[in-house]
This record gives sequence, structure tokens and C-alpha cells, in this order.
Amino acid sequence: MLRSHHCGALSESDLNQEVTLAGWVQKVRNKGFIVWVDLRDRYGITQLVFDEKRTPEAVFKKSAELGREDVIQIKGTVIERESKNPNLPTGGIEILATELTLLNKAQTPPFTIENQTDGGDELRMQFRYLDLRRNPVRENLIHRHRVTMAVRNFLSQAGFIDVETPYLIKSTPEGARDFIVPSRMNNGQFYALPQSPQTFKQLLMVGGFDKYFQIVKCFRDEDLRADRQPEFTQIDCEMSFVEQEDVLSQFEALIKHLLSEIKGVELSEFPRITYAEAMEKYGNDKPDIRFGMIFGNLNEVAKGKGFNVFDSQELIVGIAVPGGANYTRKEIDNWIDWVKRPQVGAKGLVWVKCNQDGSYKSSVDKFFNQQDLGEWAKVTNAQAGDLIFVMAGDTLDTQAQLSALRMEVAQQMDLRNADEFAALWVTDFPLLEWDEETQRYHAMHHPFTAPKNEYLELLETNPEKVLANAYDLVLNGNEVGGGSIRIHDTQLQEKMFSLLGFSETEAKEQFGFLMDAFQYGAPPHGGIALGLDRLVALLGGSETIRDFIAFPKNNHGRDVMIDAPANVTDDQLEELYLKSLPKDPS
Ligand code: AMO
Repeated sequence: MLRSHHCGALSESDLNQEVTLAGWVQKVRNKGFIVWVDLRDRYGITQLVFDEKRTPEAVFKKSAELGREDVIQIKGTVIERESKNPNLPTGGIEILATELTLLNKAQTPPFTIENQTDGGDELRMQFRYLDLRRNPVRENLIHRHRVTMAVRNFLSQAGFIDVETPYLIKSTPEGARDFIVPSRMNNGQFYALPQSPQTFKQLLMVGGFDKYFQIVKCFRDEDLRADRQPEFTQIDCEMSFVEQEDVLSQFEALIKHLLSEIKGVELSEFPRITYAEAMEKYGNDKPDIRFGMIFGNLNEVAKGKGFNVFDSQELIVGIAVPGGANYTRKEIDNWIDWVKRPQVGAKGLVWVKCNQDGSYKSSVDKFFNQQDLGEWAKVTNAQAGDLIFVMAGDTLDTQAQLSALRMEVAQQMDLRNADEFAALWVTDFPLLEWDEETQRYHAMHHPFTAPKNEYLELLETNPEKVLANAYDLVLNGNEVGGGSIRIHDTQLQEKMFSLLGFSETEAKEQFGFLMDAFQYGAPPHGGIALGLDRLVALLGGSETIRDFIAFPKNNHGRDVMIDAPANVTDDQLEELYLKSLPKDPS
């Protein structure tokens, strides 16, 4: 071994020991007659001292030439520091160096490798291997390791078997575009990278595996956001002979275990709300329930009072902002501007101040009297001192816009506390959604999700009313998981494909293997996939998954460190049958 101890290990109980350390030079302070070096490794920082009087001359000379990030090995004696640093575990000691070996000279790094760095995002992504040396990044990855291990141990103890499924497959529809991979051995044909192992895990159930899990990479070619990467990791799970209740209680137990193990937080039973209720109360199917501002439907009390803007609308809906009656006119105008931004897209915002004396002042006083506004306050549960914000328009748009406002208000009021955890299940999603553009139904979850038994008849007559045996797990306003009970019957699966607009031949071509498998004794089964990156980030107090991935892509889906995606040679293209041969000049 090139070292006897780590850089975080030594303290005053080790005084006078001869030690060998190795690591990176974090900082050099050269006073001429004495040189101090902070030596860093994965475990911490230890101060080295090279002293003109006490260090051999040749070693002392060499120490003056050290630069940031040089990799060195030293031998020396643990001595007590004169000025101790109580903030460092090793702050009571230093190593009086007697030998110094330069293991590798480093160029000056393009940014400082400190907790607070001077490097911008793009630069740190380009030199990610240097960024990984910084404490906050390393701690995030160690945190990820702890979460992953806790998941593995929990599921293994619960009887789940870890099975790997292939990456070179054919399209599995999860609602995004596929990344495709050309096949050299099969002229003109392509694999798709899995958007999820959905069909394989179902086949494992047909194969008798009963309880499967896999911590697995998934690939989706979709627009990126803070909580989305083109390749991300799922904790993918499936169980046989289960109903929805069994899946929910198994994975509720997993999440509670993780919160307890990683954060020391004990959660009680997760609330459950239906999709319809989530949309009505929060305008969103992944509500953050750490704070209130629950939607109040004002259709009954705000229509028919001569205010045209409201009268013709499908939905009039409001929220009560706690303490918002203190907002100045300028602050309210800022909120009006905020909702009108193209990203939110609202036409405007009506407001009502609920004064401490029980009176109301609103932007629509011309049309609504004090009694009317009192009704609004009741419906939105506004108290004296609150401010009611009201929006009106098409149901789906208005819900989305007010939901965005609710989240932003909460953000600005510091109501989204990263140390507080609130999980819930959202259930009873619609099976299908109508897509205007393609004029056909899409599966809201995926095509293998089972309709609820009591809705089977409506499949023929009124498919959009059919609810699915599907559920999402929401944590602090983030969708951290989704799953369903699956169809395990060939006829029903065929029916589903036909509702989704697949011809019999298309269905057979794409999913024949699954329907064939169902003919050989498919057990009733269901499962869930949790987004590991999102879960890790949330447990780490953040909503940005990139910070918890060792080598993430940027917002354009690029790895700026290795510079991918990149061009390939004409020869490679030709070999893959992707390059059309030059046209014959004749
Ligand atoms: P779903 O598509 O809901 O379900 O995905 C499961 C979970 O994966 C996470 N996730 C993502 N995380 C980061 N970047 C992305 N681009 C991304 N896309 C999804 C989310 C999501 O809840 N096969 C089904 C599961 C099943 O039915 O069992 C599936 O993949 O946290």
C-alpha cells in the first residue's frame, strides 16, 4: 500500500506515530522558512508541514515546488498543531514531513477544487473528474450509494430476485421517443434501447419469478429538465399473484425504510387520493402536500354576476395565499406578470385581499359585493390576512396554471422545506387519454396496464371514462414512481391494442411475443418502477438529479466531457448500411 492512513483518519490520539499518506495537494502556504500543505483524499484533509529546521533539506526544497492537485506521497510524524482547527476532524494535528515523493505532477486545474468553487456549470461538466474531487459532489455520490444499497438489501430481504434484462431490444412504449441502435449483422434493422424493462419483467412473471427487481438504466429521448435525463435509473419491480393493495403496501414499506435509514425520518401511513381529486384540489397529479393552498372551485359562486371574463369559462378556481393581504400593489402586479409569462400562459389573475377587519378589497369590486367575496373566501378557505388569487378558463389549462402559481408562491414563501417529507399515492388514473393531434387514444400509463374490473364494460362504449389499476408515488411534489396491475389475458390485451389504434398485424408484429406468452399460463401480476435518481436527489435535499449522477448529460443531452454524441466515420456508417452509396454519375 502506498499509504498507512487516510487523510481523514489521524487525530491527537496518534501523536508521534510514523505515518505514510498519499493524496492531492489542495492548498500550499509558503512562508519561506516553513511550507504548509493541505493534503486531500476521499476521506478528508490532513495538514502537512515542511520546516526548514526540522525537515531534511532536499525534501524541504521539493515542498516549495508543489502546486495544486499534484499527487504526492509523504512520510512523517504526527505532531500537535500550534493553532488548532476545531472544524476539521484532523484539526488538532499535522504531519511533520520527512520524505516526499511526487507521484504525478498536475496542471493547474481550470477551477478551484473547494466546496465553493469558482467554476461555472459547463466548465465543471467538461472537467467532471475534477468536480468529483469536490466534497459536495463526492458526498452526493456516496449518498446515492447508500440509498442504492439500502434498496438492494431491503428488496432482497423481502424475497425479490435481481434479474438483468437486455439493453438491445425493440421499442417498449412508455410515451417517449426511443434511442435506436443500428444492427450491423441485420441489414437495415435496428434495436431500440429500453425506455423501461416493462415487457421483460412481465415475461419474468410468466417465467415464474414471482418477485423481481432490478436497478436498471432506462433510455428516453425526451426534452430534458432538472428532473429528467436521457439515461436514468429505475428501481424496477414486479410481483405475481398480487392486487394493487399488495404492491402499494410493499413499496410504501420500502420508502418508509429509506426515509428512516437515510434521513432518520419516520413517516406515518401515506395518504391516497384519486387522480380526479388531485386535479381538483391541486391542479396537478403530483401534488406537493407539505403546504395548503388547496384549490377552491368558484364556479357556483362567481358566475352570473355580470363579469364577462368569468361567465363564459369552464372553470373558475382560486387559492388562498396565507398572509398575502399584506402584498403591495407592486407585488401583486409582479404575480400577475409571472402568470402571464409564456411558460405559464395565463391570461390574468383576479385577486381579493381578506382584510383583518373582515372586509374584502378586490380587483373586481365593480362586479362582486362583500357578500360575494365572503363566499369566495369560504370556498378557498381564506382567513383574515390572506390573499385569494383566482383564475378562469379551460379546465386543464387553468388547473395547470394555478398549480404553477401555487408551487411558485410556496417556493417564494419557503414552504417547500427540503428537510420535510410528504409522500402520497395517487390512484385511479384514467386508462386512456385522447390525443387531438393524432386523433387517437394514448395509454395514460402504458398499454399493459389493466382497466379496473368494474369499468370493463365501458371499454366498448365510453373508453375515456375507464379508470385504470394504476398508481403513482409522489414525494414532495415529485413523481418518484409509477406502476400498475397488468393485463394478463390475451383477449383483453388485444382489445387494448385495438383501442390504441394498432391493427391486428401491427400488434402482432410489435407485441406478439407477449401475447404468445400470455397463452402459456400468465399469472395475475403487477408492479412499479421508482426513479432512483429522483429519489436520491430528494433524499439529498434537492430536485436536480444531475447533481447525483456521476457523469450526467447537459440540457441538450450532451456529455461535454467526452463530447458525445459525435460523428462517426463514413466506413462505420457504411458497415451499418446507413450511408447511401454515391450516386452513379451516369
Ligand atoms: P414510468 O414511465 O412512470 O413507469 O417511470 C417510472 C419512474 O421513472 C422516473 N423517470 C425518470 N427519471 C429521470 N429521468 C427521466 N427521463 C425519467 N422518466 C421517468 C420517474 C417515474 O415515476 N414501466 C413503467 C413502470 C411500471 O409500470 O412498473 C415505467 O417506466 O420517477
